[in-house]
This record gives sequence, C-alpha cells and structure tokens, in this order.
Amino acid sequence: MNTRLKLLGAVCAQVLVVSALAQNKTTLTVQADKPVSEIQSTMWGIFFEDINYGADGGLNAELVKNKSFEFDVPLMGWSEAKTDKFSNNLESGAVMIINRSLSPDEKGPNPRFARVTVNNAAGYALVNEGFFGMGVKKGITYTFSLHAKPIEGSADIKVELVDDKGQSLGSSSIKPDSKDWKKYATTFVASETVAKAKLKLSFTGKGVTDIDLVSLFPSDTWKNRPGGMRADLVQLLYDLKPGFLRFPGGCIVEGRDLSQRYQWKKTVGNVEERELLINRWNTEFKHRPAPDYFQSFGIGFYEYFQLAEDIGASPLPILSCGLSCQFNTAEAVPMDQLDPYIQDALDLIEFANGAATTTWGKLRADMGHPQPFNLKLIGVGNEQWGPQYIERYKVFEKAIKAKYPEVKIVSGSGPFPDGEMFEYGWEELRKLNAEIVDEHYYRSPQWFFENATRYDKYDRKGPKIFAGEYAAQSVAIASPENKNNWQCALSEAAFMTGLERNADVVYLTSYAPLLAHVEGWQWTPDLIWFDNLNAHATPNYYVQKLFANNRGTHTLSIKSGTENVTGQNGLYSSAVWDGNAKEVVLKIVNGSENAVSPEIQLQGGKKYSDKAVMTTLKSELTSVNSLQDPSHIKPEESTIAVKNKSIALNIAPNSLVVVRIKTK
Ligand code: AHR
Repeated sequence: MNTRLKLLGAVCAQVLVVSALAQNKTTLTVQADKPVSEIQSTMWGIFFEDINYGADGGLNAELVKNKSFEFDVPLMGWSEAKTDKFSNNLESGAVMIINRSLSPDEKGPNPRFARVTVNNAAGYALVNEGFFGMGVKKGITYTFSLHAKPIEGSADIKVELVDDKGQSLGSSSIKPDSKDWKKYATTFVASETVAKAKLKLSFTGKGVTDIDLVSLFPSDTWKNRPGGMRADLVQLLYDLKPGFLRFPGGCIVEGRDLSQRYQWKKTVGNVEERELLINRWNTEFKHRPAPDYFQSFGIGFYEYFQLAEDIGASPLPILSCGLSCQFNTAEAVPMDQLDPYIQDALDLIEFANGAATTTWGKLRADMGHPQPFNLKLIGVGNEQWGPQYIERYKVFEKAIKAKYPEVKIVSGSGPFPDGEMFEYGWEELRKLNAEIVDEHYYRSPQWFFENATRYDKYDRKGPKIFAGEYAAQSVAIASPENKNNWQCALSEAAFMTGLERNADVVYLTSYAPLLAHVEGWQWTPDLIWFDNLNAHATPNYYVQKLFANNRGTHTLSIKSGTENVTGQNGLYSSAVWDGNAKEVVLKIVNGSENAVSPEIQLQGGKKYSDKAVMTTLKSELTSVNSLQDPSHIKPEESTIAVKNKSIALNIAPNSLVVVRIKTK
C-alpha cells in the first residue's frame, strides 16, 4: 500500500471514530418534575388463551387426560397395560365404553363412562398416558380420585404411578363398596422425579366395575389448592405484576362454528359436571395437529377470576358476540336471536360482581367467593370485522351500558393493525364513541421498530387503545419456524416505549399467546414455554416484566433536542414518574449495532440520590432461552452514578436498559 493510500485510510478511520463519537454524544433530556399524563394501573397485562396446551396439560395441574372418556375417540389417552401379569386379552378382562344416553335418566354433561370387566385371577389393568406423560416429583403427595359403581362382584383397584419401564413410583388402592355411583379418593407420595410417568389402574377380583372421572392432582399446586394450578407457571405470571388478565382468548372465544364457541356458563359450578368441548386448535394447523386437544374446563370462569385476583390483575373477559371465527365458518347468529348471547354477558357481570343474593352471584358465593371479583372491563368479540360485527356490537353495548354503566366495554378492530377491515371497524367504532378498541399485531421485528411512533398520531379525544395481542414474528405470522429470539423481544421493547409514551391513549396492552408446552404447541412465539416439570421465561417475557414492574404512575417527557426518542441513532425511549416509589424511571432501547453513551439530563427542581439502579437485557439477536438454558438472556442489575442531575449512560449494542432514579 503506498503512503498516500495509508494516509487516506487513517483519515477515514478517524472520521469514522469522530462520527461514532458524535453519535455517542446524544443528550436525552427528561422533564422530571412535569408529569404529562396518568398511566393506567392496567397498562401492562396478560393474555391467556387455551392454545399450545396452555390449560389442560399446562396451567391446570390435572395429570389425567380424557378423565371422563368424553374425547371423540372415547379411549384416547388410555390403553390396556402390557405387563406379564396382565395379559390383555378377553380372557383376563376388557374395557368397554357405555353411553348414558342409553338410559334416559342418566343423561348429562358427561355421557360416557368405562365398564371394566375382570374375568380371572390375573386381573386387568388400564393405563392413562397423561399429557405428553405425567410430570411427577419425588416427595410430593398425589391425590387420586374416581367415580365407581360395582356392577358384579367387587374389584380392588390398585392406583399406581409408573415410569416408562413399569417401575412403581408410588401407589395406593381403592375398593368400591357402594352399589351406586360414588366418588373414591386416596393419596400417595411419589418416590422419584420423572417427567413422563403414567397412571396405572390395576383391577383384581372377578367382576364388573364402572368407572368415570378419573383424576390425579399433585398437592404442590398454586396456594396448595386441591385440584389447582401448576404453581411454577402461576408464579411466572405473578412475577409479571400484570395489570389485567384477558381470558379466554383469542379465537377460542369465537369457536370454529358457534357450537364450539366459549360458553362461560358451562365452565362454572362443579368441575366434574362441566361439559367437555373440542379445542379449536386441535386441528387448526396441519403442521401441528393435536387430535387429543380438548377443553375439560378444569380452569373455567371461576378459576379465572380467582387467578386474576391472586396475581393482582383486573379481570378482562372477552365474550362471543354471536359470530364464529370469520377465518373459519363465519357463522352469524341472526340479529333477532342474539338475546341469549347478550344475557350471557349480563349474567357474567352478575357472576363476577353481583351480591350473593343474585342468581349468578349466589353461584360464585357457593363456589367459595362471596366477595365480588370487581369486574370493570368486558370485551365484546375477539377478532371480528365488518358490518356484521358492528351491528352486533351496538346491541351488546346498549344492553351492557343500560344495566352496568360503570363497566367499560372493549370492542375489536379485527385481526390486522391496518387495511380495509381495520379502517372500517375504526371508522364505525369512532362514530359510536367506543370506549376502548382492541388492536392486534403479529408482525416482523422491523414493523415493531418502525411503529414505535404509531400512537403519537392517534386522536387524544377518541377511543382508548387495548393493544390486546401482539408479538414480533421472526419468520412470518404463525410460522412454525418463529423463535422467541432477542431480536423480536428487543423490537417489542422499542415498540413498548411508544405504548408507554402514549399512555394517555393506550390503556391496556398484552403479548400473545402466553403459554406453550414444548411438545404440544400449535403457535409460536409464546411468552412462556414449559414441559411437564419445568418452565422457562423467554426474552420477550423479561421485556414484559421490565416494563410492567417499572410501570410508573405518570408519563414524563424524554427528548433528544425537541424530538421524542423514536429510533434516532437506533435509540428508543420513554420515561415515567413512579409516584408511589418517588422515582424517575427511564426505559431506553439501543436497537443499533453500536454501543451508545447518551447523557441523561434531569430537568426540574427535584433532588436525586447519587446512585441509580440500571437493569440491562442484552444478547445476540438470534439468542433464545430454553429449558436447557433458561437464563441465557436475563436481566442484570448494576449501579450507576447520578451527578448534578446528570447520568452518563453506556448502553450496549442491541440492548434494553431500565434506569430507576430515586428522589431525595
Ligand atoms: O394468539 C393466537 C391467536 O391469534 C388468537 O387466538 C387470535 O385472536 C389471533 O389471531
């Protein structure tokens, strides 16, 4: 290389350094003593839908699959034991499904039961495989129950957890002794931790026994509630400090046709009397078929309200508006037959809030919660669109407001964040002065970065926003190749600074979907992944957690010069005042490949502690967490100096930082 070229190279290198430094010289000015607008306590919430085995096989700690033989294939999940002792042929015994509809007196929500015949001394055994096996933990007590009715003779039933080699992990026994149907229960302790155990029921003693509602629950559920929820999963939800809990969806609200819509009244009362329903995600995606996916409603509307209360979230139920999924059958209830649907909405409010003397309030009280659940929000329809939705919405709105003017109604703008359906819905809802409009965005990370300013332009006097379902898709919407990688999470964080800056318009937000079983998912990405024993948070979860745990009570202005910080030099930022902790809280995303060192200037008369706490989330863009490496990406805390109302920050490439500055 000749000398001139070398010199030129050196000059260029210097110019690069200087321009990088110039970029690093960004000053962000926070108007720390001028709160701009209030932030709703509901701002950062959770969306729960029974997708990806989020309920049965997930949050619902029930270990038995198809406990009452109501799946389309009545013995799905069950098999005859294959051991030396039990020869599995008609000589030793048999199982047969009986339908109660044969006997008109016995019709009900649970039409089928199993008839087990034992022919000889060898006995006969049935095995339940659980959901992808049964996660069993050493030292934990398990409660087994079943309903039984001896028809001939009297069998002993040995109840046993076994591993994949058939080794016992704990057992007990039951001897049905009543001539009528009766519930029997027993407990035993597991001797080992096994991810894929099975439940074996061994019948001995010649005779015939009818069985139904076979159940096995661990005792270490959330709050140790019998028949409760998986504690590790609820803990992750609790740790988010969510403002609200949306339930039950999602498309599951609508059903593929109206007969499969979510009907809350069928999900309350005695768990054992709840009618099974197919899960619409069962065959939704050809690439992820789940023929054994049903809804037992072990988690129904009572359990939902209780969960919301436990985790400090406002309930936000979404109800069918009389339209089934418009991507599927688009069945519409005729307008003159909408009354039962509207009555369901009114009755749900009574179930949640009504006095124990009202019909539905009494049911809530009888189920164990005399106090109201304090329902303040209700959603009409999920991803509906077009005139059919608007005309139905109007009728719901009128009826709900006439009886419960204090309950705020969430309406929907369809499945997409723009386009014809969206524009039409918005135009109509604006005319109706809708209170809160739900918007959904499953888009690329780039879209999320670019849309950090989306709500800067929204009408301050129009309806408020519920960003009700969103998640960056690393490949394409609902692609099975999508990953919960750091790039997606970072782009969501950038977008969320825009949600927060616009908290005067955006009242509620939730990532979707929430839960996914690593073996049973239909949709990815998801906020939390789990197997039968463990769960892990995704980088997206940590982003949600950092925003929700640092919510603040009021927004503050944070600017670069006179501009909001919305991507200049890759930086995105929002600031809040936390009136409870008396702290200023900054969220800054560096979406660039360079480290950035902005100076933060805190303007106004407040005095600050000389140390601030900075929490950083950073990684390679393609990194993910997994059950094997659950903490690959996780928040790290450090302390930084505050001098003369100024903070010199050093923000790593592709990172999110949250800075909490205490006032004196
Ligand atoms: O979150 C998964 C699905 O995405 C929801 O059920 C639906 O509302 C949306 O299309």
